Amino acid sequence: MAKTIPEDVIRRVEALRREINYHNYRYYVLNSPVITDAEYDALMQELRELEAAYPELVTPDSPTQRVGAEPAEGFVRVRHPAPILSLDNAFSGDDLRAWVERIRKLLPPDTPLDFVVEPKFDGLTVVLTYEDGLFVQGATRGDGEVGEEITANLRTVRSLPLRIPVAEDRELPYPLPHRLVVRGEALMFIEDFRRFNREQEEKGEKTFANPRNAAAGSLRQLDPRITASRPLRLYCYAIVDADGPTPPTQWETLAYLRTLGFPVTEHIARFDTIEEVIAYCEAWIEKRDTLPFEADGMVVKVNDLRVAAQLGVVGKAPRGAIAFKFPAREATTKVLDIRVNVGRTGVLTPYAVLEPVRIGGVTVRKATLHNFEDLARKDVRIGDTVILKRAGDVIPYIVGPIKDLRDGDEVPYAPPDRCPSCGEPVFRPPDEVAVYCINAACPAQLVRRIAYFASRGAMEIETLGEKTAALLVERGLVRDVADLYFLTKEDLLSLEGFADKKAENLLAAIEASKDRPLERLLTGLGIRYVGGVVAEILARHYGSIEALAQASQEELEQIEGVGPRIAQAVVQWFQRPRHREIIEKLRRAGVRLTAERPVEEGPKPLEGLTFVITGTLSRPRDEIAALIEQHGGRVTGSVSRRTSYLIVGESPGGTKYRRAQELGIPMIGEAELMAMLEGR
Ligand code: IVH
Repeated sequence: MAKTIPEDVIRRVEALRREINYHNYRYYVLNSPVITDAEYDALMQELRELEAAYPELVTPDSPTQRVGAEPAEGFVRVRHPAPILSLDNAFSGDDLRAWVERIRKLLPPDTPLDFVVEPKFDGLTVVLTYEDGLFVQGATRGDGEVGEEITANLRTVRSLPLRIPVAEDRELPYPLPHRLVVRGEALMFIEDFRRFNREQEEKGEKTFANPRNAAAGSLRQLDPRITASRPLRLYCYAIVDADGPTPPTQWETLAYLRTLGFPVTEHIARFDTIEEVIAYCEAWIEKRDTLPFEADGMVVKVNDLRVAAQLGVVGKAPRGAIAFKFPAREATTKVLDIRVNVGRTGVLTPYAVLEPVRIGGVTVRKATLHNFEDLARKDVRIGDTVILKRAGDVIPYIVGPIKDLRDGDEVPYAPPDRCPSCGEPVFRPPDEVAVYCINAACPAQLVRRIAYFASRGAMEIETLGEKTAALLVERGLVRDVADLYFLTKEDLLSLEGFADKKAENLLAAIEASKDRPLERLLTGLGIRYVGGVVAEILARHYGSIEALAQASQEELEQIEGVGPRIAQAVVQWFQRPRHREIIEKLRRAGVRLTAERPVEEGPKPLEGLTFVITGTLSRPRDEIAALIEQHGGRVTGSVSRRTSYLIVGESPGGTKYRRAQELGIPMIGEAELMAMLEGR
């Protein structure tokens, strides 16, 4: 029997969706959020709970539904409503002048021409279809006529609007067409790409050569949950098809797309002469590294879209637009040696030592070879001449060897059986491409672990970088991170380059780090998969290293944001006697091992109770929530039958209050909560 849904729940769900969509847009499209992450999370949580209570209310454009689809068997092919054209290239100002001359000849004399210039995004073209404002289909370009349907994957891209217009109070210059097909480019920001690759490497999973490949690989996943975990972005720049009026110029199209809520780059310009266009494009050659994404050129478009259409198409490229390509950041050089780097987690990564070469303004001496599988596939040998590419400010990588230039003296590379740092045999997990050194005492790993422990996101010990860490390890002064706290001035003075002042500064920095918050220490320990975010969750939940060390795998998995892999890594880390010893040493040294508000020892007075907070309390809500959680309770975003108490502050919200009344949930004030915390 269908239960009737209270009117106020329906209204609340609608309001939450509008609000969340708007905040998504502020965050991902405008880059200017107006609420905190915690506030955003609370809205999402409330919506999720309401939708769980009333599944009939779930709609495809609900922000909770970005990831919902099951893995697909394969991709379905879809025909585009109009050909998805590519672009002709220009490599110089003269090429652009010649282009304008060519098109002028095809137009009636004195046709006024102006131009719009946009970055040429180096990503993956996507074609997005909206029906009555709802995102119904997304496809790849394919061959320009037929692409692959990747709707479920594209839904996970946060800046892609699931419904347009995003802000309903916006005035549109045209009525929204029933059907609107938009073209854009999906990509990964350079910074996100680096972080993503680093994480992949730590997990022993596939890394990508550049942001473009990472974006393409992420969108061509059969399981949308994988796509959802990848930091993808989108920029839109054209209307492919519409069954209603659309803007007559490219400039207005970009403004219109932006009004509808599509992400549109702000790096666009309009000019009346090709000379201005050329100056602008050339200026971008130098500035390309300031863009957060990779651009391989600028696209110059005839602004008047009727004129552009009139110009027609040659082959697969429209005459009305052209790509001004940036000079390639490629070079050839010689591989002098292939060496292996040992990471903090013991991963062995091969890299090439190169004959120094300049590309795009920097001298390159080394290039990563990613992993041994990649190296074998490319068959890079010592002595090879290779093509080297630098993309954005990304670390240069080797495209491959020029095999025609080989003279027979090249030495094929054999991956090591032993760690180059400690000489212990290496370990190859059967289901990973990574190769590990699993010797806990390996000096190279130790150096990296110490530098990581001391780094910004962890214990922040100033001046303790890799160089100093290496000296300390080499001298046998430090065998684990805890030894740092037992260093003396004499120890440091024995190191090369250390005089009084430098030694004192380092000792002071080490001393100052003793009182860092628990999550920083947890991060610094370098437990696999425990980065800043997970560390914070764990610190908040357990309140002390000791409590965390006692936690079982099952218990850890119950925590939101902690999956089985993290849970297992944490349990395994604390099982090792060496790690227990480190914690003991840290304790003896006086390093803080508890959160600022220690958890109650003994019974947890709020065990099994679920709280909802409404209105303003004497402290920020997340502090109150942390307090409740430390005492064994749970805090959720909206009132349901499972709620034990509603905590009512000043000017409480209407919905939670009414709902609690309807369901007969007891309401308490802050004072009563405090009494409960004390076990009264
Ligand atoms: S306009 C008729 N604008 O570059 C419209 N394309 O090498 C033709 N691209 O396949 C495309 N940024 O996917 C246009 N701002 C931009 C672009 C852009 C990247 C891609 C596009 C095309 C490729 C051509």
